[in-house]
Amino acid sequence: MASVFDELENLIGLHEAKKTIYEIYALIKMNKEREKHGLKIEKQVFHMVFKGNPGTGKTTIARLFGKIFKEMGVLSKGHLIEVERADLVGEFIGHTAQKTRDLVKKALGGILFIDEAYSLARGGEKDFGKEAIDCLTKSLEDYGNEFVCIIAGYNEEMDSFLELNPGMPSRFPVHIKFTDYDADELMEIAHLMSKNKEYELSKDASEKLRRRVTAALNDPFIENFSNARFVRNNIEKAIRVQAVRLLKVYEPTKEDLLTLKSEDFTI
Ligand SMILES: Nc1ncnc2c1ncn2[C@@H]1O[C@H](COP(=O)(O)OP(=O)(O)OP(=O)(O)O)[C@@H](O)[C@H]1O
Ligand SMILES: [Mg+2]
Repeated sequence: MASVFDELENLIGLHEAKKTIYEIYALIKMNKEREKHGLKIEKQVFHMVFKGNPGTGKTTIARLFGKIFKEMGVLSKGHLIEVERADLVGEFIGHTAQKTRDLVKKALGGILFIDEAYSLARGGEKDFGKEAIDCLTKSLEDYGNEFVCIIAGYNEEMDSFLELNPGMPSRFPVHIKFTDYDADELMEIAHLMSKNKEYELSKDASEKLRRRVTAALNDPFIENFSNARFVRNNIEKAIRVQAVRLLKVYEPTKEDLLTLKSEDFTI
């Protein structure tokens, strides 16, 4: 158990997600204690709504929740099936129900993660998206205890999606907000990501990346800043640039290989 919780704890920020999983952990433990004393146990479903901007860690947390739920005995497998509108919605009558059912089947024992769930409602009454929502609602009814469904997307769109589909809110009791990271958190994430890949940022590189992150955060023309993904992309690019730089070095040292320099953070 310790290792998955450590993995969660090591992530930067994400306080609401961390708090929620501890509440569920406590609840399951106490239910076991209550059982010993012959006390009543409410049947629980843990379907969730994740609200937040791109790159705020929703998919990462969903994957980790799968593993934690497996450890806690809530799910038998704990795997993650990540889908979006195109995976669920078909091209002719009956096709959508078939596709949706097949994916729910694949997700049994684990987590069905539906990104931008509101796009299912986008096409209106005649759209097959509606068929997917109905089929999903039915699956939650029939197999709701055998998998955890997480619907994810931007705050406002998620709220209106839930409002427009009256069957939904009561089936998704757990809501988690993923807030945007600030510059300090993004830099912590940068150092963590580098460390996990066995790289280090030189002082200059770190300062350069911080300037870039701050500029992006303050850029009024960037509408959908991609948070931690922005950091990831910058680091992955720097790793490639470093590799090319080191090609010219005869037998690079361990230090050379470890260090990402400011010149590696080209545009
Ligand atoms: N708090 C964090 N600490 C460390 N790494 C993080 C954190 N949040 C996100 N990341 C990393 O940032 C990247 C993007 O995160 P993730 O894919 O989970 O975001 P998302 O919210 O699902 O985005 P999208 O809505 O665009 O799908 C991943 O590589 C993930 O490992
Ligand atoms: Mg995602």
